[in-house]
Amino acid sequence: MTLQSRIETALADAIHAGQRGPTPARLAAALDYAVNPGGARIRPTILLSVATACGDERPGLADAAAAALELIHCASLVHDDLPCFDDADQRRGKPTLHRAYSEPLAVLAGDSLIVMAFQVLARAAVADPGRAVQLTLTLAERTGMPGGICAGQGWESEPEVDLAAYHRAKTGALFVAATRMGAIAAGQEPEPWDELGARIGEAFQVADDLRDVLYDSAALGKPAGQDAALGRPSAVTAYGVQGAIRYLQDSLAGAIASIPHCPGEAALARMVRAQAERLTPVAPVRQAL
Ligand code: IPE
Ligand code: IPE
Ligand code: MG
Ligand code: MG
Repeated sequence: MTLQSRIETALADAIHAGQRGPTPARLAAALDYAVNPGGARIRPTILLSVATACGDERPGLADAAAAALELIHCASLVHDDLPCFDDADQRRGKPTLHRAYSEPLAVLAGDSLIVMAFQVLARAAVADPGRAVQLTLTLAERTGMPGGICAGQGWESEPEVDLAAYHRAKTGALFVAATRMGAIAAGQEPEPWDELGARIGEAFQVADDLRDVLYDSAALGKPAGQDAALGRPSAVTAYGVQGAIRYLQDSLAGAIASIPHCPGEAALARMVRAQAERLTPVAPVRQAL
């Protein structure tokens, strides 16, 4: 089974479990709308790649961790798009969930997906309760306060924002969760994997800031020019386009250099390079330069 099919199967199982029985049909459909068709699934791909590099001796647990992480990510996007946050009308090339279904259903779908993520981990605990607890704690730390995506979104309500702290919590947190959870699922210590997650997260957010400036909404599948429109701190505002590209290149080089020694080290470096290729906005950057 490819990593991609493992991720899609684990997500489909989780969503179906949340739609069983006599449910409010529109909320049940909204769960699926929030998760499918997916985006790049970069976080669960990193998680399973790290687990594979570490031997992946509990694949069921790794699949549950990958699904849980992606469910949190999808929930965060549903809430992020709401009028009280970014008020976006497009996501992944289709109307945002609150535009398609209503604001109450977007709040409830996001809430349900967050709860579902932790249910998925709890259900997988029979395979290895100790590791499941570690996975649960790691995902909770990177989702809530003080260092998770809630903190990241919370920075947007402060009068002064530290760009690095904002990016670390808003985006970096789930990338560190990805590398840590991959290691935990495979029975390894998570700490040596922190820097890889943090560096990929940094590169990812800088690439996203560049694309926000250099791409149009048709290419992005979501509104463009949002950082300026919403007054958000951005690597492009802070360092300029060329400075942001240098930052992106340094982060990627740092990511590859930080990969801990493990049986799948070379394959993991190839995965990071492939993701980097996908993320780097080459053509518009050339034009801008
Ligand atoms: C978008 O994340 C949110 C950010 C942190 C910038 P992705 O670009 O990974 O979104 P999808 O899942 O591929 O749509
Ligand atoms: C979304 O951040 C990241 C979350 C924590 C939800 P952004 O608002 O910068 O990302 P996009 O542009 O909507 O994907
Ligand atoms: Mg936002
Ligand atoms: Mg947004």
